[in-house]
Amino acid sequence: MPLICAIDQGTTGTTVILLNEKLEIKARVNQEFRQIYPKPSWVEHDPEDIWASTLATIKSACEQAGDTDIAAIGITNQRETTVVWDRKTGKAIHNAIVWQDRRTAGVIRQLKDEANESWIQKKTGLMLDPYFSGTKVAWILDHVEGARERAERGELAFGTIDTYLLWRLTEGQTHKTDVSNASRTLLMDLEKAEWDPELLKVFRVPASLLPEICGNAQEFGKARGVPGITDGTPIAGIAGDQQAALFGQACFDAGEAKCTYGTGAFLLMNTGTKPVPSVHRLLTTAAWRLNGKTTYALEGSAFIAGAMVQWLRDGIGLIKSAAEIEELARSVESSDGVVAVPALSGLGAPHWQPDARGVIWGLTRGTTRAHIARAALEGIALQNVDILRAMENDLGKPLVELKVDGGASANNLLMQMQSDFLGRKIVRPEMTDTTALGAALLAGLGVGLYTSLDDIRANWKVDQVFESAITEAEREAHLRRWNQAVQRV
Ligand code: G3P
Repeated sequence: MPLICAIDQGTTGTTVILLNEKLEIKARVNQEFRQIYPKPSWVEHDPEDIWASTLATIKSACEQAGDTDIAAIGITNQRETTVVWDRKTGKAIHNAIVWQDRRTAGVIRQLKDEANESWIQKKTGLMLDPYFSGTKVAWILDHVEGARERAERGELAFGTIDTYLLWRLTEGQTHKTDVSNASRTLLMDLEKAEWDPELLKVFRVPASLLPEICGNAQEFGKARGVPGITDGTPIAGIAGDQQAALFGQACFDAGEAKCTYGTGAFLLMNTGTKPVPSVHRLLTTAAWRLNGKTTYALEGSAFIAGAMVQWLRDGIGLIKSAAEIEELARSVESSDGVVAVPALSGLGAPHWQPDARGVIWGLTRGTTRAHIARAALEGIALQNVDILRAMENDLGKPLVELKVDGGASANNLLMQMQSDFLGRKIVRPEMTDTTALGAALLAGLGVGLYTSLDDIRANWKVDQVFESAITEAEREAHLRRWNQAVQRV
């Protein structure tokens, strides 16, 4: 039975899963890779590390599955992270600037004064924030000697990680991206799904750098020289990781929403075939384009979720392993008034404060590790309340349920907190690798292995439902204290 190979190139690691046409997982391999922090609030990746981890995970997944016949490859990726490389050598001219990186906060402040912010917002669906690729591309061109001139001469290429991997997987034959990744650059006209010349001027990005924007399920190119994969295997599905997760969660109808707990937490709601502008500081984004028809989503991005647990482990040594946090947090009944705002990379939606810093607030002599661990989990869940309320206000109606996925969705305490604080039903599927699943499904559609969205929906199965177990008064007390803490960041 032929398999689909899904590459999920995330912020802290690369995961490859191999699935058969019944969506059964035949192999799964994950590898973390190096994070580079050259200065406070700067985050970089070496594109060669990303490529090496991709090759290594593909190879071990193929070995794990045994006799493999890969019918197609799907790519999903950390979005916005920016690479500029030499078209001839394929070598990046600078480390990738990661989506979390805040180095262009000053440029953004200047643009807020000088550019037409509401026009940019309307055209792109995005906010003016260092999060997106636009200012990161210009930063590389301005800081690598001779880069701007080389770009003007057409010698360089820009890509988000999907585009970079596609280039490497095809030995430089293909320079393309998909509409979901392109919609995160601040350079694309959201309605037309085309690069916009005016935006390119505002962000000072030469058109010669840009990949072609495609739909999400089609042949993007053919693999060449990839160990474990037969030359000529089509790369047939691409989507940014949050849009891929929305697809993998079978949120095909307007009003269906999911939250993925990865490095950050990303809440996306399918809003149908017309972009819905946000008046509550959320993002409007392309979800996918299938058969020439674009589906849109509203998105609220919280930049730090799993990364808070990682920081408690690696940054301050509060826990030894990420899995330990649930038991430690459960060992106390409450956080005893401690509130943690995980603004370690500024604050995302709906606050958009690039210079904000994290806060652990309300400490006493009685505060223990357990209270801080519990407050950290509460903070991860509480930031989603601000987002969900903004989303409901944009839509003018409440959400019935929220599907969840991603690494931290395995944490039952966090999921219970999420339901308590939102006052909404939380539904966790059996398969929580929905990001990779989404990429596999798109690739399967791209080569005709899956034919309809109904087949995909029929395979989506619930693992556990979490219902709120606190009173409205308790919920409001938590939110009051949270809001007080947010004021302090
Ligand atoms: O927009 C950034 C997002 O795509 C990163 O996802 O899974 O690495 O948190 P993740």
